[in-house]
Amino acid sequence: MAFVQSLSKTVSVFVFGFVVLNCLVVDKFRSHAQGVTPLLPQDEVQILQTISDKLKNNNWTTIDRTSCSSAQWKLYISDPPKNDRIQSNVTCDCTFENNTVCHVISFKLKGFNLTGVLPVEFRNLTQLREIDLSRNYLNGSIPGSLAELPNLQSLSLLANRLSGSIPREIGSFATLKSLVLEDNLLGGSLHPDLGNLKSLERLLLSANNFSGTIPDTFGNLKNLNDFRIDGSELSGKIPDFIGNWTNITTFDLQGTSMEGPIPSTISLLKNLTTLRISDLKGSSSTFPDLKDMTKMEKLILRNCSMTGSIEEYLGNMADLDTLDLSFNKLTGPIPGPLESLTKNIKFMFLNNNLLTGEVPAWILGSRKDLDLSYNNFTGSAQPSCQQLPVNLVSSHVSTGSNKISWCLNKDLVCTRKPQHHSLFINCGGSSETVGDNEYEDDTTPGGAADFASISERWGYSSTGTYIGTDDGAYKATNSYGLNVTGEGFYQTARLAPQSLKYYGLCMLAGSYKVQLHFAEIMYSNNQTFSSLGRRIFDISIQGKVVEANFNIMEEAGGVGIGITKVFDGIIVNGTTLEIHLYWSGKGTTAVPDRGVYGPLISAITVTPNFKVDNGGGLSVGAIIGIVAAPCVLAALVLLVLRKKGYLGGKDLEDKELRALDLQTGYFSLRQIKHATNNFDLANKIGEGGFGPVYKGMLSDGSVIAV
Ligand SMILES: *[C@@H]1O[C@H](CO)[C@@H](O)[C@H](O)[C@H]1NC(C)=O
Ligand SMILES: *[C@@H]1O[C@H](CO)[C@@H](O)[C@H](O)[C@H]1NC(C)=O
Ligand SMILES: *[C@@H]1O[C@H](CO)[C@@H](O)[C@H](O)[C@H]1NC(C)=O
Ligand SMILES: *[C@@H]1O[C@H](CO)[C@@H](O)[C@H](O)[C@H]1NC(C)=O
Ligand SMILES: *[C@@H]1O[C@H](CO)[C@@H](O)[C@H](O)[C@H]1NC(C)=O
Ligand SMILES: *[C@@H]1O[C@H](CO)[C@@H](O)[C@H](O)[C@H]1NC(C)=O
Ligand SMILES: *[C@@H]1O[C@H](CO)[C@@H](O)[C@H](O)[C@H]1NC(C)=O
Ligand SMILES: *[C@@H]1O[C@H](CO)[C@@H](O)[C@H](O)[C@H]1NC(C)=O
Ligand SMILES: *[C@@H]1O[C@H](CO)[C@@H](O)[C@H](O)[C@H]1NC(C)=O
Ligand SMILES: *[C@@H]1O[C@H](CO)[C@@H](O)[C@H](O)[C@H]1NC(C)=O
Repeated sequence: MAFVQSLSKTVSVFVFGFVVLNCLVVDKFRSHAQGVTPLLPQDEVQILQTISDKLKNNNWTTIDRTSCSSAQWKLYISDPPKNDRIQSNVTCDCTFENNTVCHVISFKLKGFNLTGVLPVEFRNLTQLREIDLSRNYLNGSIPGSLAELPNLQSLSLLANRLSGSIPREIGSFATLKSLVLEDNLLGGSLHPDLGNLKSLERLLLSANNFSGTIPDTFGNLKNLNDFRIDGSELSGKIPDFIGNWTNITTFDLQGTSMEGPIPSTISLLKNLTTLRISDLKGSSSTFPDLKDMTKMEKLILRNCSMTGSIEEYLGNMADLDTLDLSFNKLTGPIPGPLESLTKNIKFMFLNNNLLTGEVPAWILGSRKDLDLSYNNFTGSAQPSCQQLPVNLVSSHVSTGSNKISWCLNKDLVCTRKPQHHSLFINCGGSSETVGDNEYEDDTTPGGAADFASISERWGYSSTGTYIGTDDGAYKATNSYGLNVTGEGFYQTARLAPQSLKYYGLCMLAGSYKVQLHFAEIMYSNNQTFSSLGRRIFDISIQGKVVEANFNIMEEAGGVGIGITKVFDGIIVNGTTLEIHLYWSGKGTTAVPDRGVYGPLISAITVTPNFKVDNGGGLSVGAIIGIVAAPCVLAALVLLVLRKKGYLGGKDLEDKELRALDLQTGYFSLRQIKHATNNFDLANKIGEGGFGPVYKGMLSDGSVIAV
């Protein structure tokens, strides 16, 4: 149990399996050759010892001829129990030579942070069907001679530090069904010989640095059912031959350098259940023909320069739970037949298109995570911001009247006279004083289609769902106990899988200095697989990309180190400052766990490059105070009603409360206190009026009381 103690004390340990296995072996053996225990051959013991040494595996004390029944070969450590990512599971087949000889057929050491290399000696374990060394810390390259293994069906090396290219010899694996190399440091081009892997069903290459094009020979991989190549430098057109992959169910091609259009042969892939393509280069194209893909569950075609309208047949995809067509140039209305999706859909992102027409009633009545923001809808009966059940922010809804909800306005144009000139936000954390400035609380939970604004002063929106898990976080804390350098606000962060926007609202026109504070706090800083994540995202300010492929760790020189990116001379020409962080499909998505990735930010500082007239500070602000007050009041009343149970009490979902008042966002106790008691006359004017009476002066000079 020394090994067990060497692991985290918080994990539970389960030792099982070998008992059952041994019983089976022993029973079998007894019925055939009484009394003799089947053993590993001595030379196989030596090879296993060499392999264990080269992996730097210190978790096994001895390897001998009886090891097939040793407890250390059957150790499953689960944290949480449903998770199988830490296990030592070596399986033997002991039926050789009339049940007298054992050979290792499966070798799994997952999540042990082994620091060695991938031993070439695996090739001598000729009965091996499976090697799984996921989530370790192995470096070096993949030995081509592994392809000599005559029975190997599955090779999984997910989340290690392997480098070099995939050796050409790997292409001669006649039996290989599954090759998982995701989240490593592999590079170079994909050798055409890999197209000879005729048995291959699963090819997971995401989050490496492969370049060149996908070889034409890959058209021969007719048994593929799962192909993923997110986040690489692969270029060229998406090949026509993907139409040959008629068995495919999962196809991922996010964040490559490949070009559209999506070839028409995609229409042949009728068994697809998951299709994720994003951030294609090249010219625009229309919606691909996906008519026959009635089994689709997750359809993501984001930022693929698609034009034309949304196809009605999407409504026939009865199992669809995620639909993401965001960041395209789709026009026309939301097709009526999409209503039939409401039964199963969980996430629908149609934001950042050119959609028009009325927002359908079934969307407004929905309780799912739907994002329709940044479109061009029209309509007569738009709800107020407070009643919006979905993210419709900045949808530019034109109603022909002036009574458009503020949050539906393009660019979130201020409904009153702008008066703000600086902004301090502790993203994902509670309010924190740094120097002379109080960084404001930003602890709303966030979500897959979320918008919150604080009194038309600032707001944020988050969009997206995590690949591989529905319960990824939208806020981060320093969970590895890193010794984070820098201000206190680096201890927490806000993140989103896809798109994260912060808005400065009702800002005075002029030039600003925008400082974005980052620290990577979701990876560890030791020699474990948890340190192997690569978070990469793009930063735009005022719609212009100011940093592409930004990597906090690389920029800061490690995890837990706070850095500030300064963007000076940012012009606010209207009244809104928009900071947009966007995941373009790059970096790891499964380290240390599935769902750890996406743009992350610790704090925001915005200060003006112009002189602010602070004399009294009441001229414009007072007006805002008057307007904002009823809004805050309404929200507080709702909150109180809820607390008393009049609005459904505990049954009322958090999300529904969120929907009640988007104008003022969530209310933590702190915020309420803030709004009522701590109303700071000097710089918080206009936040909302519950404190003492404030004196103000209108632009015509008349003095008012708020
Ligand atoms: C151990 O590995 C064998 C062979 O792959 C597999 O059949 C078995 O289910 C595994 N046991 C556990 C508990 O994962
Ligand atoms: C296996 O056992 C059978 C019958 O028990 C015997 O005929 C055969 O020769 C044995 N084979 C080997 C390789 O020992
Ligand atoms: C392992 O296999 C290689 C190539 O098949 C062979 O040359 C070598 O002698 C084997 N090593 C052992 C220890 O059996
Ligand atoms: C693997 O990494 C270790 C340090 O962790 C280093 O000493 C060694 O040279 C590396 N080996 C290879 C083959 O890159
Ligand atoms: C990725 O590969 C390219 C060459 O194809 C190389 O220039 C670049 O440095 C590599 N990037 C990393 C992070 O290894
Ligand atoms: C694969 O697809 C290409 C292009 O669609 C086609 O020309 C070729 O014949 C197909 N290959 C096989 C082996 O079916
Ligand atoms: C789709 O999958 C089914 C089994 O689920 C299989 O019978 C069928 O051949 C597949 N279709 C295609 C076009 O490969
Ligand atoms: C949005 O719709 C309005 C009319 O409702 C139209 O004038 C405007 O050009 C549209 N904008 C875009 C970008 O399509
Ligand atoms: C944390 O870092 C600071 C500054 O680098 C150092 O003085 C302090 O000893 C460190 N604390 C721990 C617990 O490592
Ligand atoms: C600001 O807006 C005005 C008119 O709306 C336009 O003329 C000017 O070019 C804009 N300036 C910048 C820097 O965008």
